Amino acid sequence: MMIGDFHVHTQYCQHGANDRMEAYVLQAIKKGFTHLSFTEHAPLPESFIDPAPGRDSAMDRNAVEAYVMEGKALQAQYKNDLQIKIGFEVDYIRGFEQETQTFLDTYGAEMDDGILSVHMLQAPNEAYFCIDYSKEEFGRAADEFGGLLSLYKAYYDNLIASIEAELGSFKPSRIGHMTLVQKFQLAYPQPADFSKEQQYILELIKEKGYELDVNTAGLSKPFCKEIYPSPQLIEKAVQLDIPLVPGSDSHAASSIGKAFEELSAYPLTLPRK
Ligand code: MN
Ligand code: MN
Ligand code: CO
Repeated sequence: MMIGDFHVHTQYCQHGANDRMEAYVLQAIKKGFTHLSFTEHAPLPESFIDPAPGRDSAMDRNAVEAYVMEGKALQAQYKNDLQIKIGFEVDYIRGFEQETQTFLDTYGAEMDDGILSVHMLQAPNEAYFCIDYSKEEFGRAADEFGGLLSLYKAYYDNLIASIEAELGSFKPSRIGHMTLVQKFQLAYPQPADFSKEQQYILELIKEKGYELDVNTAGLSKPFCKEIYPSPQLIEKAVQLDIPLVPGSDSHAASSIGKAFEELSAYPLTLPRK
């Protein structure tokens, strides 16, 4: 029985709906959940220029205090109905580890939960791309990388680097949507079999004692139609006894717990933190 949704965005996200945090809380309660983690996109490093065409990949740096305060107020207000955790989905961006750690060192003590994700990749010409922004942007990235194969390789390479990165004592220990590079797989088919890399990544996650974000958002993406990671990979994670933490990656209140019935066969757990 599913008891919570542990990957949730809010009105502080610049690319989602404007639903306020309380609307997500009420929807979670309505769904019968007892747990909810807010994991807003942490502000990007100050010296990093958001490559997404909408410049809307993350929350505004100036809104962090308001986000945390609003979350804490809801935590107290709804404490008898819902255990609310407040945290961030933190971008791992190669080359910006120091600034990322500075953010974590500053706010980590206030974080109850967290996810580490790779959305930003640097092409050989040094330009960065936000690979989950749109199908068109993904295509542009593939061109700049010199093809889909290089783009996929870079993604898994960066994912490995994210797991290995030293980001201080508040580094999130849950790996977000580990197959995000497949978001547009129906338009840009997987160029090769990456099961070796994926298996290595799962073993690294196991070795580090990290968790996997089992993320249903991909299912409703028209060019993905699959959860992140795929059922076959989840099976491999189960064999390794890696904790599986469910998340809808909601960017609107109505998506809380969306498609969680697809996860009913898996041994899901609460975040450890
Ligand atoms: Mn998002
Ligand atoms: Mn994400
Ligand atoms: Co997310």
